[in-house]
Amino acid sequence: MKILVVGGAGYIGSHMIKRFQNTDHQIDVLDNLSTGFKENSQNYKLHICDLSNKEQVHKILKENKYEMVMHFASSINVGESYDHPMKYYENNVINTLNLLECMIDLKILNFIFSSTAAVYGEPESIPIKEAQNLSPINPYGKTKSVVENILSDYDKSYGLKYISLRYFNACGAHIDGTIGERHNPETHLIPLILQTASGRRNNFKIYGDDYKTKDGTCVRDYIHVMDIAEAHLLSLEKLIQTQSSDIYNIGNEQGYSVREIIDMVEEITQTKIPYKISEKRKGDPAVLIADNSKITEKLNWRAKYSDLNTIINTAWEWEKKLSNF
Ligand code: UFG
Repeated sequence: MKILVVGGAGYIGSHMIKRFQNTDHQIDVLDNLSTGFKENSQNYKLHICDLSNKEQVHKILKENKYEMVMHFASSINVGESYDHPMKYYENNVINTLNLLECMIDLKILNFIFSSTAAVYGEPESIPIKEAQNLSPINPYGKTKSVVENILSDYDKSYGLKYISLRYFNACGAHIDGTIGERHNPETHLIPLILQTASGRRNNFKIYGDDYKTKDGTCVRDYIHVMDIAEAHLLSLEKLIQTQSSDIYNIGNEQGYSVREIIDMVEEITQTKIPYKISEKRKGDPAVLIADNSKITEKLNWRAKYSDLNTIINTAWEWEKKLSNF
């Protein structure tokens, strides 16, 4: 199949296009390089284009006759989404609408969407099943939930077939050490702690230690980026086969607190991490842990790299490379 990977120069997108190597699919990348890196897509045709430029998007889709689009390009920081909700609605909703409009006009009706566990808000119960009510508590989660509703309506009215994948906490780096997480500024837990271990940062702040959790710090379900890429490949194969839209959690059903992550980093890096307790961050649910039975049963997906040891080890190898440690 001829597939366009939108956001393929970014963190998860770059692991995705690497996963496509040695498959029968033909892959091109579209990215505005606002947060992605050209070298991540060096083995592929790269269209440098912003989704706000609907005419250019339409032209690219038309000329290249793509049959499927995977959409990884969005703004992803919960904290920033409070400060700049406009950026989030524009980039995550309006730009996605532009892409979908072009696709539907050209009858490209297969779509894989990067959604998030943030659509659940404060979960009704743990582990979280896909069927739980969506009540996102931050603008970021709301933008993704809006798009999920749009996809459902576009399926009914225009026959758009999609799979929406709700990622829990994406992390880790490729086991071959060539690609990994590189955000600027970095806001995610594991890279920040590792930057403290390598000396790129002086200390680390824990956002709140009086949550109702095992040690007072937030608990998250950390899922290795290569397992996320595998879930996308299985999803697209299922979509081609069944032509039926669906939604899946991608998580590992394991919850680790912020303190547990620090402990594991200290053990693996043999470094003491200096940290302070600071204010809670707005929009942080106490606990997010996936129920992944749907994706394991329906797509036969299994997490292979998401034990905490592999996550931290691969991320540490990558951090050492970035920091010349
Ligand atoms: N945290 C700290 N200190 C920091 C950074 C993070 O204590 O300096 C804590 C956060 O409060 C949170 C946990 O570490 O409890 C994880 O925070 P991240 O910023 O790494 O990730 P989030 O859980 O906020 O969000 C991530 C993705 C979202 C996705 C969500 C789904 O960024 O896109 O996981 O669970 F929606």
